[in-house]
Amino acid sequence: MRFSDNVSELKPSATMAVSTLAKRLAAEGRDILNLAAGEPDFDTPAFVCEAAIEGIRAGGTRYTPPAGTPELRKAIARRLSDRAGRPLDWEGVVVTSGAKQALFNAIFSLFGPGDEVVVVAPYWTTYPDLVTLARAEPVIAFGDEAADFKVDTTLLDSVATGRTRGLVLNSPCNPTGAVYTLGELKAIAEWTKERGIWLISDEIYRSIYFGDDSEAAPGLLDLPGESLGPHVLVDGASKSFSMTGWRIGYSYASPDVSTKLTALQSQITSNPATPSQAAALEAYSNVEASAAAVAEMAAAFRRRRDLVTTRMKELLPGVAFVEPAGAFYLYFRVDAFFNDEVRDATAWCSKLLEEQGVALVPGGAFGDDRWVRMSFASSDEVLEDALGRIAACVGAGSAA
Ligand SMILES: Cc1ncc(COP(=O)(O)O)c(C=O)c1O
Repeated sequence: MRFSDNVSELKPSATMAVSTLAKRLAAEGRDILNLAAGEPDFDTPAFVCEAAIEGIRAGGTRYTPPAGTPELRKAIARRLSDRAGRPLDWEGVVVTSGAKQALFNAIFSLFGPGDEVVVVAPYWTTYPDLVTLARAEPVIAFGDEAADFKVDTTLLDSVATGRTRGLVLNSPCNPTGAVYTLGELKAIAEWTKERGIWLISDEIYRSIYFGDDSEAAPGLLDLPGESLGPHVLVDGASKSFSMTGWRIGYSYASPDVSTKLTALQSQITSNPATPSQAAALEAYSNVEASAAAVAEMAAAFRRRRDLVTTRMKELLPGVAFVEPAGAFYLYFRVDAFFNDEVRDATAWCSKLLEEQGVALVPGGAFGDDRWVRMSFASSDEVLEDALGRIAACVGAGSAA
């Protein structure tokens, strides 16, 4: 079958592929521990679900404006303004069908043939594919392992060219869990401003943060306005409110940019689902209830982070991993276990799934197939069991 050049480079999402396989094996009756998925394991808070049901009962089942209802855009803008400590224009907010669509809208609208877009690696698997879909060129910038793979302006200088038009940054990072400090973020934002290039900041995991200095990880809006050049902030309800299936994300940019992003969205998906918008309106406007729900989930993730990092050191001493400061992933290195049959993390993950029934995502999905990603959005029992099985797979304590 011949497809158009638009999709000739397109691959299905690698993280979704592993998770789908794990679900299929479980449905066939295999004893599978699926730690490949990228979603919180909590139910959406009840008060949010109730708002959707009430919205449907009140007749909220038709189209809304493509960028979302003004009420929801204003509620999000209020939350962002509180964070920034300055009033932000609600018309800069575009509500999308998940943060993924916000990223698509931005990347597709801002970049095209001849443009280079720096993608910080290890990267969330979708970024380079979205850049390629826009027929621009992803330029992968690997941070230093010793710095938890975070990049700095010296490294960015080394990859930037006259064709660089944007930078995609993700903090807290999927897959590493690394979090940029405010100072690091400021330096990077100012670097993009000086060059007049777009900074796409994906802050979807911002509220899952394990630092003691603040409830949420530093983000673009914590910076003084003068540090910011052209930027698009991406966030959403999926991870913070455990609402992955509702498909609500958003972008925040200057209103003229948002008008273009809305035009694109209006031609592709129209508005995000109306009942989901009613749910998100409650999540973003009932500040007290949502803060309590977020704090409870973040505390559970912190406890699990402590559990998996402690057990990793005990069960797999010598195996390098990034100490997660946010999000809910443990990114660890498995090339010490490679041999003639198992030559990369993809093969290693297949062996682990086959022999031990544990599903992880091979690092090839994030740009380095010597590493793997394990989600710790699961119960303590499952995490303990999974780590035990991983240790059994490699022969506990045998890693160099
Ligand atoms: C870094 C990152 N950005 C964006 C998304 C997409 O979020 P959504 O489910 O809201 O589309 C994900 C989902 O896994 C993610 O990990």
